[in-house]
Amino acid sequence: MQVIKKISELQAALQAQKPAVVGLVPTMGALHEGHLSLIKRCTSECDVCVASVFVNPTQFNDKGDLERYPRTPEADCQLLESAGCDIVFMPTVEEMYPEPDTRVFDLGPVSEVMEGKYRPGHFNGVAQIVSKLFYAVQPDKAYFGEKDFQQIAVIRSMVDLLKIKVEIIPCPIVREESSLAKSSRNTLLTELQRKKAAKISQVLAKSCTFAMSHTVEETIAWVGEQLKSRPFRMDYYEIVDGKSLQPVRNWSDSDSIVGCIAIYCGKIRLIDNIRYK
Ligand code: PAJ
Repeated sequence: MQVIKKISELQAALQAQKPAVVGLVPTMGALHEGHLSLIKRCTSECDVCVASVFVNPTQFNDKGDLERYPRTPEADCQLLESAGCDIVFMPTVEEMYPEPDTRVFDLGPVSEVMEGKYRPGHFNGVAQIVSKLFYAVQPDKAYFGEKDFQQIAVIRSMVDLLKIKVEIIPCPIVREESSLAKSSRNTLLTELQRKKAAKISQVLAKSCTFAMSHTVEETIAWVGEQLKSRPFRMDYYEIVDGKSLQPVRNWSDSDSIVGCIAIYCGKIRLIDNIRYK
């Protein structure tokens, strides 16, 4: 596995492999099995698997969150190598942002709800870094986890807007044994919080049964009720159309319906989602 820090070196390494089907897995490191499932899917479908590890400052709307974000580059390289990754791209902030990126993207309605509302500027920062990575790597396929369900829709919107030729491949959520969605941020939870955080995904799973005999509105209220006490503090729970990400009123409104949650467990903000249909 090659570890590369410069865009020019990355492009030279990829040029040397041509013609090849190139797959990209963008990450912010502190890798876990969720990320590795993307790497494995990429290596199984592409000739060359490139993983990027870069904690992108422009997508953090909270400076404390950026500072707290876990960084484990050595462990990341070991995990990537054992998962079969060919090239890891680990640039510095100066390499990715030699000048401030002033681009403001019109990412449409998918970017305005939920995370878009609660984390202003977040998706614009994601679009900035992912577009730069797409320009640098020019991948045929790029792999993203459904844990960040809205992020995938936003990236599809960015790719349409910029007319970038790349296939976006969504991959299923990987969970801990407790059913908590794996996340780099889970390591920031205390042991007790981590145990309690499993309730989030358990409530979401149970809400599918509840939803069979209740309205959308009742289901949203029920989830809120289950997760209203400490250590939890809910940002939102929304039940949305799986494509447009806009709220649905009735279960019959769409044939793709997903419930998306953002909730604090102590000081740590977690997201998860569940498919109703
Ligand atoms: P990061 O949070 O490191 O996630 C990198 C990729 O791994 C994302 O596509 C994310 O959805 C996926 N992922 C994380 N946890 C997962 C899980 N439990 N199961 C399946 N996939 C999972 O998302 C980002 O980084 C950044 O926003 C990025 C796209 C790299 C841009 O900076």
